[in-house]
Amino acid sequence: MKNKLEQIKNQAFTDLHDLMNKKTSLNLEENLRTLRIKYLGRKGELSQILRNLKDLSVTEKKELGALANSIKKDLEAVFKEKEDEILGGNSKDYDLSLPGKEIKTGHLHPLTLIQRDLEDIFKSLGFSILEGPELESDYYNFEALNISKHHPARDMQDTFYVNWEKNKKDEKLVMRTHTSPVQVRAMQTYGAPLKAIVPGKVFRNEAIDASHEHTFYQLEGLMIDKDISITNMIALMKELLKGIFKKEVPVRIRPGFFPFVEPGIELDISCQLCGGEGCSVCKQSGWLELFPAGMVHPKVLEAGGIDSKKYSGFAFGLGLTRLVMMKYHINDIRLFNSGDLRFLEQF
Ligand code: DAH
Repeated sequence: MKNKLEQIKNQAFTDLHDLMNKKTSLNLEENLRTLRIKYLGRKGELSQILRNLKDLSVTEKKELGALANSIKKDLEAVFKEKEDEILGGNSKDYDLSLPGKEIKTGHLHPLTLIQRDLEDIFKSLGFSILEGPELESDYYNFEALNISKHHPARDMQDTFYVNWEKNKKDEKLVMRTHTSPVQVRAMQTYGAPLKAIVPGKVFRNEAIDASHEHTFYQLEGLMIDKDISITNMIALMKELLKGIFKKEVPVRIRPGFFPFVEPGIELDISCQLCGGEGCSVCKQSGWLELFPAGMVHPKVLEAGGIDSKKYSGFAFGLGLTRLVMMKYHINDIRLFNSGDLRFLEQF
């Protein structure tokens, strides 16, 4: 009986060895299972011996029982090992100390980060956040803003005109050149008093270089109420700059012309790239135009359905892209739309 047991063990190892050496066998997994049943299955020889142990004497039972069980254990271990080898689940191949695969989760674009900061500042001041269409009518983009058909101001804002056959009103459509058209849309929808900002994408037909892009971002601001004056506007802008740059930023105010405001101003900030020394971004002047603004023109108030005798207000068009360039010291506007991860991953 002892010999029989040794024989079963040796045969099992030989069969297993032969099978594993024929690794090309298509049915390796199945053959291994058959072999396992042959040696370890309920009807296998080993099980039969174990079952018949009860008929033996106590000493034989002890000796052979121990041997049979240890052979069974050995065989079970070696079959398990081979199964793991075939199925690739061998715990030996599994190294818990290896670092895991890095999961890349995107993150917010620098423009979005600043836009959200600004939205928070304005929300805390009681402003609403509005949107308007990027494909805009010629009327809202120009005429409602007191820029008539042949006004030279149109030349400064060349854009992409869109022929849209389904446009029943036969209105000319343009990719909006600024966020200002939403001023009139907002007045028409909400009336006065009104405090709102409009962050958004705008388009220009530009020769592209380090400081000009065909697509960039602005943030329009509008405040209309009784007795609003230009000093309210300047105070708000300074507050805003403090919120963004977390310090006092030197500013200067110059007169500026925009058909939709009267008077109009340009608020420049000291160039944060060169500290006001002069560089290519500020065209060696040390100053950067950031906030064009002004008191809303009575014609624009009227186009928005607001009585210009009762109400006044101010508006500004913050260059959001430019502000982000200043804040993060970015010297090429083309990086924003480039999708270049070397750039984007820095934020
Ligand atoms: N929309 C103008 C532009 O893109 C900027 C602007 C100027 C907006 C004066 C305003 C404003 O609201 O009052 O060039």
